[in-house]
Amino acid sequence: MRRALRALRRPPITDHRVVGRVSAVAAFGRKLSVAVFVVARRATILPDVDEATTVESMRGYYARRATYYERVYLKPERQRDLRTMEAWLPSMFVGRRVLEVACGTGWWTPHGASFAREWLATDLNPEAIEVARRKEMPLCVRFETVDAYRFAELGDRRFDGVFAGCWWSHVPLGRLAGWLDALHARLESGARVVMLDNNYVPSSRTPSNTPISRRDADGNTYQRRTLDDGSVHEVLKNFPTCEQAFSILGERAVERQWIQHEHYWVLSYQLT
Ligand SMILES: C[S@@+](CC[C@H](N)C(=O)[O-])C[C@H]1O[C@@H](n2cnc3c(N)ncnc32)[C@H](O)[C@@H]1O
Repeated sequence: MRRALRALRRPPITDHRVVGRVSAVAAFGRKLSVAVFVVARRATILPDVDEATTVESMRGYYARRATYYERVYLKPERQRDLRTMEAWLPSMFVGRRVLEVACGTGWWTPHGASFAREWLATDLNPEAIEVARRKEMPLCVRFETVDAYRFAELGDRRFDGVFAGCWWSHVPLGRLAGWLDALHARLESGARVVMLDNNYVPSSRTPSNTPISRRDADGNTYQRRTLDDGSVHEVLKNFPTCEQAFSILGERAVERQWIQHEHYWVLSYQLT
């Protein structure tokens, strides 16, 4: 498994690059789904909670976690991937007017915005934005409170770039297609889209993820996470494969690229 992960880390998988690597990712995806399935089988099967409750509880969970959220970026085993992605991100948005979805405490913002023309970093939680505002940011960065499901606060503004870090994994599978439609409606033709998120890395020596506690009837996976105040929260967290992501995007996404790091995946594409 470790050898397979190392082999997949680089170079990236692109549409116009080779069946061999895509099938390697498919093999990896199968291994991953087997691993996830095993965990899920051991987990308690609870009745499904409705999506609105899941979405609202996620908002509350991240509001309470905002002041120490960035501890997740200090995990030693993730440092190499983080440095690689931080170095890669600036080149993706040179000269673009970018919407950052669910920016949180702004970990990715200074990297993504380095050479952007305009960068609107948005999140639903003022608590998270407050942490981000206190950091030094490129001059093009502005912050606003925006609900990533509706984007109503954006009015008729349109963008030619979008970035979302660790957000895709929190969108319930039943809402993913609708959310992508809503996002793409805010973008101009030719817009560059970049999303990145966590892999599930099963390892007995250094467990990097919170275990999956259950899987619902739609296939969403959940984790039970404990905050510093002792409160326990069930958080929806999905781990998509390259094939699932490409499939839901369909023909509207061109120049598609899936970069498989050990602890993160990165998806980029251009909107037709
Ligand atoms: C996993 S954090 C990701 C933060 C940041 N992008 C990162 O990668 O470090 C998820 C973020 O989603 C935000 N959030 C939760 N519900 C939201 C919603 N409906 N609209 C916009 N942001 C939301 C939370 O406040 C939190 O900052």
